[in-house]
Amino acid sequence: MKMNPWTLSVLLLLAGPLGADPDWHVEYPDSFCVVEGSTATIPCSFTHPKVHQGTGAVVERVERVIWCHSAEYCIPPVFFGYDSSNLRADSRFQYLGDLVGNCTLKIIKTVKRDTGTYRFRFVTNGGGYTGTKGVRVNVTDGEDVKIRSSVADNVVKEGGQVTLTCTSACSFHQLDVNWYRNGHTLSETGPALHLSCLTNDDTGNYTCSLDPSGQKPSAPWSLLVGEDEGRHKCDSDWRLTVSVVSVLLAVFLLLLAGLVFTKRRQAQKKSSDVIQKQEVDCKQEAVGASEEVSYSTIHFKRNTSRSAPGPEHEIVYSEVVR
Ligand SMILES: *[C@@H]1O[C@H](CO)[C@@H](O)[C@H](O)[C@H]1NC(C)=O
Ligand SMILES: *[C@@H]1O[C@H](CO)[C@@H](O)[C@H](O)[C@H]1NC(C)=O
Ligand SMILES: *[C@@H]1O[C@H](CO)[C@@H](O)[C@H](O)[C@H]1NC(C)=O
Repeated sequence: MKMNPWTLSVLLLLAGPLGADPDWHVEYPDSFCVVEGSTATIPCSFTHPKVHQGTGAVVERVERVIWCHSAEYCIPPVFFGYDSSNLRADSRFQYLGDLVGNCTLKIIKTVKRDTGTYRFRFVTNGGGYTGTKGVRVNVTDGEDVKIRSSVADNVVKEGGQVTLTCTSACSFHQLDVNWYRNGHTLSETGPALHLSCLTNDDTGNYTCSLDPSGQKPSAPWSLLVGEDEGRHKCDSDWRLTVSVVSVLLAVFLLLLAGLVFTKRRQAQKKSSDVIQKQEVDCKQEAVGASEEVSYSTIHFKRNTSRSAPGPEHEIVYSEVVR
């Protein structure tokens, strides 16, 4: 889990007296798995302790950062890991972090003996602090990679489905799994490969690998997609879905149309009531105002739109008809 220092300090504030020392903290994942030969980037974040001076709190200045292997407090000298004050240490260990809150460590070209618990220590002008929980790093050779399948039999009917899972001693939180069919890379990456609507094209030998270069693949798992009604079934499934969706859509549209129609009827009834009333009210005024009537008539004719005539038009129209 990655945490930025801000979230961390909020959490620490919330934790309050429960935390041993709420002034500082080192946060890394519990464990980290990497395939031998590849690069591990271990996320890490830390917060500074504060020195209280009079009224305000002043953040201490970090002067030295250390990553050590299998030592509880990372007290120098560090022979295996990283020490910002002794860069002659193993150069495969690179510090990607900074001196203010990021302590990310990179291990290049991991080897089996890198396996172990790593801890981060920072030394400030006020003292030294070690995140003793540490992060367990497992370097796997990728040789224990296996494929597990969701079906007992390697023969699956056309149109059927199967899920393959790539497993190893490593957990896969930080890993991309590569999948291959007859040695050709598939676009899917992830611990599970889900194959559905199987066709004859899916027949083949499947392998997975934890290594991006595809080295040390798992033992192959061969899939044979059987002929016959399978495909038909898959197609009809698809057709069924389409027809269900269209029926639902049609019902919805009908309901909508009904609703709109009813609303309109109500509105028309209402407005015709109003018009009738207005007609009575305005009759006196309209009679004799011939100029206005003819003008309105022209206006109405020009406005040939089929939209429901407004009250004015209606009145004028009835006057003209008369
Ligand atoms: C810490 O630094 C690494 C490497 O520069 C970067 O990838 C990562 O996002 C940083 N982490 C945080 C929390 O900023
Ligand atoms: C690392 O290895 C130990 C012991 O072999 C195991 O218990 C742990 O689950 C492994 N961790 C990961 C992330 O694979
Ligand atoms: C899959 O592997 C088997 C042997 O394990 C082999 O006989 C078969 O030809 C392979 N299939 C393909 C498509 O390569």
